[in-house]
Formats: sequence, C-alpha cells, structure tokens
Amino acid sequence: MAKALRWFGYLVGFLLVLALLAAAWVWFASERALGGKVEGVPETLVTPTAAQLADGPRQLRVMGCISCHGDGLRGNLMFSEPNVADVYAPNLTLVAAKANDQQLARAIRQGIGTDGRPLLIMPSSQYSRMDDAETAALIAAIRGLPVGGKQTPPNHVGPLGRIGLAAGKLHTQPSQVARYKENMPADLGPQFAAGRKLAMVNCAECHGPTFGGGEPKPGLKAPDLVVAGAYDLPEFKRLMRTGVPTGGRKLDMMADVSRNDFSHLTDAEIEAIHDYLVERANRAN
Ligand code: HEC
Ligand code: HEC
Repeated sequence: MAKALRWFGYLVGFLLVLALLAAAWVWFASERALGGKVEGVPETLVTPTAAQLADGPRQLRVMGCISCHGDGLRGNLMFSEPNVADVYAPNLTLVAAKANDQQLARAIRQGIGTDGRPLLIMPSSQYSRMDDAETAALIAAIRGLPVGGKQTPPNHVGPLGRIGLAAGKLHTQPSQVARYKENMPADLGPQFAAGRKLAMVNCAECHGPTFGGGEPKPGLKAPDLVVAGAYDLPEFKRLMRTGVPTGGRKLDMMADVSRNDFSHLTDAEIEAIHDYLVERANRAN
C-alpha cells in the first residue's frame, strides 16, 4: 500500500513538472513572438503628388483604417475574448502626434509599432505592398486629422492567446509581412497592373497573399478569388458597394467590409479589380 502511494506521489510530481515545463515553454515561445523589439529596415518615403494628397482621406476609408481605428482614427476596441486577448486599434491622432514619419511608415508597412513592438491584427501584411508615395500620402492624411480623444488601454494577450502564438496559430505582423513578400499574386501584364495593385492592398488581408483563399477569423473562410470570375461587372459593383453577392445570399465579413470600406472605391477602381480577377480566373481554367 505504502509503496503504491509512493509511486502515485512520484507520478503526480512528474506530471506537475511536465505541466510547469509546458507552461514555461508557452510563456517563452509567446514572449519571443510578442516581446522584444523588432529592428525593421529604414523606410524610404517620397513626396506624394497633389492628387495623391487630396485623395488621402478617402484612402483611409477604402483601406479600412477608419473601420478599425474608429471615427477620426480616435481608437476602437477590435477584439476581446476572455483569456485570448484584448486588442485595441489605437488612437492614431495621439500616436502620430508623438511619432515621426519613419515610425509611422514602419508600423503601416512592416508591422512594427512606434515603440518597436511586433504588431498583432493590424494588416501590415497587405499594406507592405504600398509604394513610397502612397504610404507618405496616408501618413499626411493621418496628420491632417484633428488630434483628440483618449488613449486606448494597452493590448493584452491572455493564456489561450499565448498558446496560439506559441503553437504558431496566431501570427505577429512582421512574420506576416515576410510571408506576403514571398508570395505575390500572379502578374498578368501591364493591362491588368492597376487592378492587381488595388486587390493586393485591399483584398489580400482576408483572401490570402496570392488571393488563393484565407481564414480571416477562426472558422470563417474567405474563398479563392477565382469566384469573382463568375461575376459580371454590374454584379461585381453591387457586391463591392453593398455587400450583396450574386443570388442575393447574405454574406458575413465580406458584407461589412464592402459596405464600410469598398463602397468608397470609384467605378474605375472597381472595374480595374474586376478586369484583373476575371483574367486571373480565365487563366486558372
Ligand atoms: C483590421 C483592423 C485594422 C486595420 C484595417 C488597420 N489597423 Fe492599424 N492597427 C490595428 C491594431 C489592432 C493595431 C494595434 C496592434 C498592436 O498593438 O499589436 C494597429 C496599429 C497601428 C499603428 C501603430 C500604432 C502604434 O502605437 O505604434 C499604426 C500607425 C496603424 N495601425 C495605422 C493604420 C493605418 C494607416 C491603416 C490603414 C491603411 C490601418 N492602421 C488599418 C488594426 C487595424
Ligand atoms: C475583412 C476580410 C475581407 C476582405 C478585406 C475582403 N474579403 Fe471578400 N470575402 C471575405 C469573406 C469572409 C468571404 C466569404 C463570405 C462571407 O462570409 O462574408 C468573402 C467573399 C468574397 C467573394 C465571394 C462572394 C460570393 O459570391 O459568395 C468575392 C467575389 C470577394 N469576397 C471579393 C473580394 C474582393 C474583390 C476584395 C478586395 C476588394 C475582398 N473580397 C476583400 C472577406 C474579405
């Protein structure tokens, strides 16, 4: 009896040590992903054209900055799941007041916070495909907004979020930026370059780096954009402006992003995206 008890004691002790080791591993692996500073590369920014500067405020809408960072970019709670994470899209008017253009560009295109932290959720992966003048025009548009509002609380990653990071299920943006750089969508020639560019910076966040499909939130699939090949232009315009697809089905995230962001695309831009996606679908068949 005493012997059996002793063995039971050893077993419990052994399991405790294992649990502690596992917890320590999760902690260190997630700290490595989250903590520490990321260097990044120096940003080159050039002066935008007058037309690009005038268009900056609209780009803040098309590209979703306002949807996530809130009205006037004054901050917004983006994601809150007990034990996973609380993530705010911060008040960018306050961030910009303290940061230089280099820091803002690194946050937008490299996924590195103005304090050097690797960012979460902020879709720098797709914004990494903006050119120098486009990035500078966005920064000017941020700086053009009145500074105000409150600072959002610091972001917090709980134990389940840490397990996700350690297991490689949740990614920080600098690693996503690298993945998107290595996986560019098909270049179909100069005739389709404008549409490819627009899709790269607006659709890749959810439909994947090459538009081959993605999973913008657990359990919600965004399809390969070959599906757009079946849309004629009026149907595609309706989808982009109202979130209603062919057949009038009810969509989830796509409905929100269309109504809130893509409804600010011009007709010419929607046509360019359509041209590219139809050509891409034709070549896939
Ligand atoms: C899907 C939501 C989402 C969209 C779209 C988005 N952001 Fe963010 N952004 C975030 C979140 C969340 C953070 C904070 C991430 C963190 O702290 O880990 C952030 C952080 C930032 C930061 C860094 C702030 C700091 O304190 O260092 C900048 C700058 C920024 N975003 C600019 C932009 C701009 C410009 C756009 C549009 C081109 C944009 N964001 C679009 C969610 C978003
Ligand atoms: C914020 C995430 C997100 C972004 C950004 C996004 N999509 Fe989607 N899209 C989805 C999801 C998710 C679906 C699947 C339907 C649903 O659940 O909303 C979808 C579905 C679609 C469909 C299929 C609709 C159908 O017939 O079922 C098309 C076409 C489409 N997206 C085109 C685009 C284009 C073009 C862009 C860029 C201009 C884009 N999407 C950007 C998330 C996104």
